[in-house]
Amino acid sequence: MRLDQSLVLGLLATTGLALPSRRDNGVAPKQLQVRSSKYAVKQPPLTTEWTGKVGTHPWPDYPRPQLQRSQWQNLNGVWQYQNASSVDAVKSPPFGKDLGREVLVPSCLESGLSGIQEQNSLYSWFATSFKVPSSWKDEHVLLHFGAVDYEATVFVNGKQAGFHRGGYFRFSVDVTEFAKFGEENELLVFVHDPTDGGDHVIPIGKQTLNPNHIFYTPCSGIWQTVWVETAPSDYITSLDITADMHGEVNATVHSSDTSKSSDVEVTVQDNGKEVATHKSSSNKPFQFKVHSPKLWTPESPKLYNVTVKMGDDKVTSYTGFRTISKDKVDGVVRPLLNGKFIFMFGTLDQGYWPDGLYTAPTREAMVYDLEVLKKLGFNMVRKHIKVEPELFYRACDELGLLVIQDMPSLRPLQTKTLDNGTQVDVMPNPKQQVEFGRQLELLVNQLKSFPSIAIWVVYNEGWGQLTNTYPEFGLTERVKQLDPTRLVDSTSGWHDHGAGDFSNNHHYANAQCGTPWYSTDSSPYDDSRIGFQGEFGGVGHNVSIEHLWNDQAAINSINETYEMDASIDVWNYRSHFLLNELEDQVHKYACSGGVWTQTTDVEGELNGLMTYDRRVKRVDEKQWKDDIQALYSAAAARSNGS
Ligand SMILES: *[C@@H]1O[C@H](CO)[C@@H](O)[C@H](O)[C@H]1NC(C)=O
Ligand SMILES: *[C@@H]1O[C@H](CO)[C@@H](O)[C@H](O)[C@H]1NC(C)=O
Ligand SMILES: *[C@@H]1O[C@H](CO)[C@@H](O)[C@H](O)[C@H]1NC(C)=O
Ligand SMILES: *[C@@H]1O[C@H](CO)[C@@H](O)[C@H](O)[C@H]1NC(C)=O
Ligand SMILES: *[C@@H]1O[C@H](CO)[C@@H](O)[C@H](O)[C@H]1NC(C)=O
Ligand SMILES: *[C@@H]1O[C@H](CO)[C@@H](O)[C@H](O)[C@H]1NC(C)=O
Repeated sequence: MRLDQSLVLGLLATTGLALPSRRDNGVAPKQLQVRSSKYAVKQPPLTTEWTGKVGTHPWPDYPRPQLQRSQWQNLNGVWQYQNASSVDAVKSPPFGKDLGREVLVPSCLESGLSGIQEQNSLYSWFATSFKVPSSWKDEHVLLHFGAVDYEATVFVNGKQAGFHRGGYFRFSVDVTEFAKFGEENELLVFVHDPTDGGDHVIPIGKQTLNPNHIFYTPCSGIWQTVWVETAPSDYITSLDITADMHGEVNATVHSSDTSKSSDVEVTVQDNGKEVATHKSSSNKPFQFKVHSPKLWTPESPKLYNVTVKMGDDKVTSYTGFRTISKDKVDGVVRPLLNGKFIFMFGTLDQGYWPDGLYTAPTREAMVYDLEVLKKLGFNMVRKHIKVEPELFYRACDELGLLVIQDMPSLRPLQTKTLDNGTQVDVMPNPKQQVEFGRQLELLVNQLKSFPSIAIWVVYNEGWGQLTNTYPEFGLTERVKQLDPTRLVDSTSGWHDHGAGDFSNNHHYANAQCGTPWYSTDSSPYDDSRIGFQGEFGGVGHNVSIEHLWNDQAAINSINETYEMDASIDVWNYRSHFLLNELEDQVHKYACSGGVWTQTTDVEGELNGLMTYDRRVKRVDEKQWKDDIQALYSAAAARSNGS
C-alpha cells in the first residue's frame, strides 16, 4: 500500500462515515457507500479534471475503428473482483460465487479509478455477466478484450473458452458454443500479471513492482474495453489495408474460415461518395487503385472511409493515402513522407495518468494530450514502450500526428545475485526471447493499418537487448517482412550495431543529432542511415504539492530528473536554448528529426510540457511554436536544391 489516503477511505467506507469533499477536484465521494465492497473511486495520489467524469460506464465508444460492426454490446462497467494467491487458483474457478469486491473495467488494479488501488495484484479474478440477445441465435458470438495485462484465462458459463498472453494486445474468443441465447451468461476471467517479479522477463515497458523515478507503478488486469458482438459463421477477423501516394491500395481480408477463400468486395468512399470498388477473395493480398487521391499528411490528414463485404458479413473501416520511405536528399539519408523529406518532431509520449495509470480516464482526456501537442506544432508523437487503445491511433490519424511506435521493452536495467554471489544483468532466456519476438509480431500485425504510424522501434536503450547475439538484426528483418511500408528504428539509443534505418542518438539535455561528435552510451552518427535524436530535453521543474504525485518515494526521487530548473521561466529559457541548439544541428549537420522528453510529468519524473495532472502547462506557447517552426524551416532549407 503506497497511499494512506486510500486506506483511510477504505476504513471510512466500512464504517459508513462521510468524508468531507477534498479540495477542488470533485472526486472524493461525499456520500460513501456503507458496504465496503461497492465500487467507488479510491482517492489517487493525484487527480485530473477527468477523474470525476469517468462514472461507471467508462469508454463507451466502439473500440475497434478499423473493423466496425453494428451489432455489439459494451461490457465495460462495474464487475466483481477477488485477489487470488497463486497461479494454481485458475484450476478452481469460483463459478457462481460472489467475489466480494467491485472493480471498474477497464482499469489497472493499482489505479484509483479501479476502486481497488492495491499493489502486488499478481493473480486476480474478474466476473460479470452479459445477456446474449435471442436475435443472435444463428450467429456467432465474439467476445473481445482490448488488452489484459498480462495473461488472461477466460471462462464462459463454467467452461474455459480462451487464453491470451501479452499485456498490450487485443484478443477475441468465439464463445458461440458456450453462450446461452436470450439469457444471462457468466463471464469469469483469471488474470496473472507478474510484471518484473521473480524470473519473469516479459514486455512491461516502464512498469515495475518497485517504482523508482523513471520506472513507474505497474498496471494489472483488464485495462482496455471488453465487448461482445455478433457475426455470421464465416466472418472477417481482421483487415490489413495500406494506401500509398500513388493511389495504390493493398488489402488483405482475413476470414475466420481460413480453409477457404470467400468473395470479398471493398469500397472506398469520400464524403459518402464511392471513389473505388474492387472485388477479390479473402486470405490473400490484393491491390487496386484510387485515382488522384488527396494524400494524408500532418497538415492535411485526409482519411477515406472503407466498407468491406464478405458473404453475410459487412464491416466499415478507413485508410489514408501516404508513403513512408527513405532516400538521399542533397547527399543526406532522410525519412520521406510522400516522396519529400519530413522533419519529424514530437514528444516522448508515455501515456500514463495519475488516476488511471495505463488507462486514460476518458477518451477526451487521451485526445486532449494529442491536441496540446498538435497546437504547439509537433507533427509526431513517440509512443514510448506502451501500446494504446486503437482509438488513440484513430485520433492521431484524424489530427495529423505521425506516430513512432515502440515495442514495450523487456525488464530494464535490473541485476540479480546468483547463488555464488555474482551479480548479473537480468536478460531474457531463449524462451523469453522467442516470446518477445512473438509479441513484436502481434504489435506490427495489429497496428499496421493505421496511416499515422511511420516508424517501428524494436529496442529502447538496450533494455532486454541481448548484446552478444545482436537479436535486433533478425527482429528488424521480421518487422520489415510483416510491414514493408514503414521504417524500422532497431535500437533507439545505446547498443547500435548497424541494424535498421536509423542512427539514433539519445542525449540529455542537449541533442547530438547527426553531429560529428557523440558521448558515452551513444554511437557516432552513421551516414548510411537517418540521423535522429530519439530523446533529448528532459529538463525538469518542481511544482507545488497539489500537482505532484503525492507519494513520498516519488517525491524523494525528483532530484534524479536530468536537470532541475528553478522556475517556469527558467525552464522555458532552457528549452529555448536546447531547441535552438537542435535547430543549429539541422542547419549544419544531418539531423532528420527529434523527440523531446516529454509530454507530461510521470510520478516522480518532473520534466513534462505539462504536469502529471495536466493542470499546469509549463510551455510558453508562443516561444515553443516559434522554436518548433524554426526546426521545420531549417529542415526545408536543407531540402532545397535536391
Ligand atoms: C493477494 O493475495 C496474496 C496472497 O495471499 C498476497 O500476497 C497479496 O498481497 C494480495 N494482493 C492484494 C492486492 O491484496
Ligand atoms: C501487400 O501487402 C502484403 C502484406 O500485407 C505484402 O506482403 C505485399 O508485398 C504487398 N503487395 C504489394 C504489391 O505491395
Ligand atoms: C466516414 O463515415 C463517417 C460516418 O458515417 C462520416 O461521418 C465521415 O464524414 C465519413 N468520411 C469520409 C471521408 O467519407
Ligand atoms: C558464478 O556463477 C556463474 C553462473 O554459473 C558463473 O558464470 C560465474 O563465473 C561464477 N562466479 C564466480 C565468482 O564463481
Ligand atoms: C519539490 O516540491 C515538493 C513539494 O513542495 C517538495 O516536497 C520537494 O522537496 C521538492 N523537491 C525538490 C527536489 O525540490
Ligand atoms: C536536491 O538537490 C539539491 C542539489 O544537490 C539539494 O540542494 C536539495 O536539497 C535537494 N532536494 C531534495 C528535496 O532532495
